[in-house]
Amino acid sequence: MRKLLPSLFQRDRGEQLPPEDRIIGVSRQAMSDDRYVAIAEEGMRRHMKPDEFDPAVWDRFSGRLHHAAIDATGESGWPELAETLGAAPDRVRMFYLATAPDLFGPICERLQAAGLVTEQSRVVLEKPIGHDLYSARCINERVGAVFSEHQIFRIDHYVGKETVQNLMALRFANALFQPLWNSTSIDHVQITVAETIGVESRGGYYDHSGALRDMVQNHLLQLLCLVAMEPPLHLDKDSVRDEKLKVLRALKPIGRDEVPACTVRGQYRAGAVDGAAVRGYLEESGIAADSDTETFVALKVELQNWRWTGVPFYLRTGKRLQQKASEIVIQFKPVPYSIFPPTSGELAANRLVLRLQPDEAVRLHLMAKEPGPGGMRLREVPLNLSFAETFKHPVSDAYVRLLGDVVRGDPTLFMRRDEVEAAWVWTESILEAWQTRGEPPKPYIAGTWGPSTAIAMIERDGRTWHEDV
Ligand code: BG6
Repeated sequence: MRKLLPSLFQRDRGEQLPPEDRIIGVSRQAMSDDRYVAIAEEGMRRHMKPDEFDPAVWDRFSGRLHHAAIDATGESGWPELAETLGAAPDRVRMFYLATAPDLFGPICERLQAAGLVTEQSRVVLEKPIGHDLYSARCINERVGAVFSEHQIFRIDHYVGKETVQNLMALRFANALFQPLWNSTSIDHVQITVAETIGVESRGGYYDHSGALRDMVQNHLLQLLCLVAMEPPLHLDKDSVRDEKLKVLRALKPIGRDEVPACTVRGQYRAGAVDGAAVRGYLEESGIAADSDTETFVALKVELQNWRWTGVPFYLRTGKRLQQKASEIVIQFKPVPYSIFPPTSGELAANRLVLRLQPDEAVRLHLMAKEPGPGGMRLREVPLNLSFAETFKHPVSDAYVRLLGDVVRGDPTLFMRRDEVEAAWVWTESILEAWQTRGEPPKPYIAGTWGPSTAIAMIERDGRTWHEDV
């Protein structure tokens, strides 16, 4: 209701869905198509902006919606689904599994048994792909026994975000940054994905997951890959994913001894976000009263390769933080020597900020002379590329792009099996180190920037988190 149907609706509005396309919602509960359409309408109206919900398009779109009741691990419902879909081996079928990961294998096997898998079928798997390396491998095996790798689309919606795509354009369509994009010129990189929401209604899932599995293993590592990867040969599926894989393999494991200096785990307590009082994590529904699941992570990450050795990547993400803001900050090194007298003011090193959301923008912070006759007064000023001002049309949701890619059969922006597994190998090193140390997460007040130890972690290195977040 929040992402998938609105994205398909947007495609329909853009006249990009052929008239015969159908969307079949599947759940355990039996319901008529009319009931499903009513639920979809209510949910979509709630989540879409009023000007996006075009009633004329809804008339057409609602005619595409159907519902089927199925038992994912049992027998019931599958023959009826097969009948509804009919034999159409040449038509593209996208099976989108927004389910718990342990159902991915069983559902694919049922799809095959019901004769629903054809060469034109694709399956979409939502993250998390498993809970650890072992479960991810088991899922990949079972799904891979039914679908070929080119039919499997492991979705990470961060990669589909416009500004994340723009990182590729910025890096590889401009010569300007190319000679500077390495440890000679870059001091460090920061990647922040801050949320103001709490766990909402997903306590049952989240409490078994935590921020490292929910956000770092996938979204933040994908962002890191796009910043750090070598130029791919072409913009095709294997060239791009091969380069990302090399970055994942270059991640330096964080073991037991590195945990205190390189990781911070936090958990929110009651506080106030955007002026409204909110409860603490342990009071949320579906959360164990003594849970030690982290809702905040900060990490100092190193890459062991030629380009990046010696350049720390500081990552942080958390729920119930002060602002919703996702940013990548490339902090360049200072000038080697200042020719300016102390009265000119302090020289700040250049910084490139990619604002992923909200207010999508690219900002390059430079030093400039303040106008005026009073001598050489220097000030840091941003060169600001605001997407809203420059491109004049709203940034569409990542799912609009990604669902289109699935239909077209282009997996470039989706995780390949080896990528997911490499990301788990590294993530597991941290999970294991945390487990052996057995330290509870540090509490932080909702509406702040997380535990003070996250600030201390970066300040120990003589650096600070980027402050205009
Ligand atoms: C999801 C996580 O993958 O991403 C959620 O499971 C998180 O916990 C969400 O809230 C954030 O996505 P976005 O696009 O709102 O930044």
